[in-house]
Amino acid sequence: MDRIAIVGGARLEGEIPISGAKNSAIKLMAASLLSDQPLRLTNMPRLADTRFLGRLLSRLGTQVTETTGADGPETVLHAPEIISALAPYDLVRQMRASFNVLGPLLARTGHAKVSLPGGCSIGARPVDLHLKALEALGARIDLHEGYVYAQAPRGLQGAEIEFPFVSVGATEHTLLASVLASGVTVIRNAAREPEIVDLADCLNAMGAKVEGAGTDVIHVTGVASLHGATHAVVPDRIETGTYAMAAAMAGGEVKLTGARAVHVSALLDMLVKTGVDVAHDADSITLKRNGARLKSVDLTTDPYPGFATDLQAQFMALMSLADGESVIRETIFENRFMHVPELSRLGADISVHGAEARVRGVEALTGAQVMATDLRASVSLVIAGLAAKGETVVNRVYHLDRGFERLEEKLGACGANIRRIREDGEES
Ligand code: UD1
Repeated sequence: MDRIAIVGGARLEGEIPISGAKNSAIKLMAASLLSDQPLRLTNMPRLADTRFLGRLLSRLGTQVTETTGADGPETVLHAPEIISALAPYDLVRQMRASFNVLGPLLARTGHAKVSLPGGCSIGARPVDLHLKALEALGARIDLHEGYVYAQAPRGLQGAEIEFPFVSVGATEHTLLASVLASGVTVIRNAAREPEIVDLADCLNAMGAKVEGAGTDVIHVTGVASLHGATHAVVPDRIETGTYAMAAAMAGGEVKLTGARAVHVSALLDMLVKTGVDVAHDADSITLKRNGARLKSVDLTTDPYPGFATDLQAQFMALMSLADGESVIRETIFENRFMHVPELSRLGADISVHGAEARVRGVEALTGAQVMATDLRASVSLVIAGLAAKGETVVNRVYHLDRGFERLEEKLGACGANIRRIREDGEES
């Protein structure tokens, strides 16, 4: 397995282009199953997860074509006919978001067999809300031998759905299933993440009638069919926030181009409190930090527009070198402190009590061998490595490749001393 080696201490100077959002792209790709006309997605990130979903969609009958357009990478997805409505265990297990093909398959063909995703490293992550929403839309759901068998032979019908708590995935899945349902669907206590707005915009471009995305009540008026469209994937706010914290950690001045400050405002407010200079315009953010030590601040993760759980590990890395003590509360996932023992290997002083981590800032971190445990945890180790003395080697970087496009290239271009050691020993 590939590893990433970082020699800490270099300041970052330059520009980092922000890619399209992984978490949006994979739901937009699933949306292509809803129409027999081509969906052209621009500003597409090229990631292990998008390639993987492309392979699953091809099995279901989608022609997936990757091209480079005037504005960068594009993917055209065209599903003239669904040739299979089965998403097998092996594929859903490897990428949880594959489960999102269930709703579109059901809406388009009236039936689907999709493996349950099973557990994952950041908590139990059940899909009960997804299934209840599909049932509310009139689907018959049976669970058997780890599979969801879903049927709606006469199509789905609009319904009132109120989620007991905010779920990004369940909100997206309900949107994907309801756009072709007959009548009106109302989703209450909906997630408000920018990826939900992006999905609604794309579905509307395909002829759907979705109103209220970005608020906690979404109205969907079902239509008989969707047509082709071109849609630009929203910039990745998690990649944006991650590089913002990389700049804060290493020091220097970095401009994040193609980034939307409004999508990371909770993080930018925190960075200002720690002592980082932040400036932004419509499509870029510039972060500047001189040599002064950052100040510790407390953090609680929350659904959007609160502080994203996907940026919690990176913020903890930052706080590990700050002046004072920071209390970090994780409210979204119950097991999302897997990075703590790895950060501790670099010399961080962190103790965990339930859903709360206490980070006592230390004067210096020291490079070591560490292990990536999940996508966002692994990038926190890269950030810590940028400021650690000596060499940090992050093992199992396939987690990173799932969600960060050309990470070593983007950081390297700003002066970071970072390289990939390939499985065969070759370095790049
Ligand atoms: C998505 C993102 C993930 C991000 C998370 C929260 C993708 C591919 N992943 O994950 O990166 O960290 O939003 O911003 O977009 N829950 C249930 N039952 C359900 C669904 C969720 O109990 O049916 C729970 C989860 O276990 C979790 C909480 O609800 O504790 C929120 O999860 P959710 O918002 O659904 O996250 P995902 O969509 O899985």
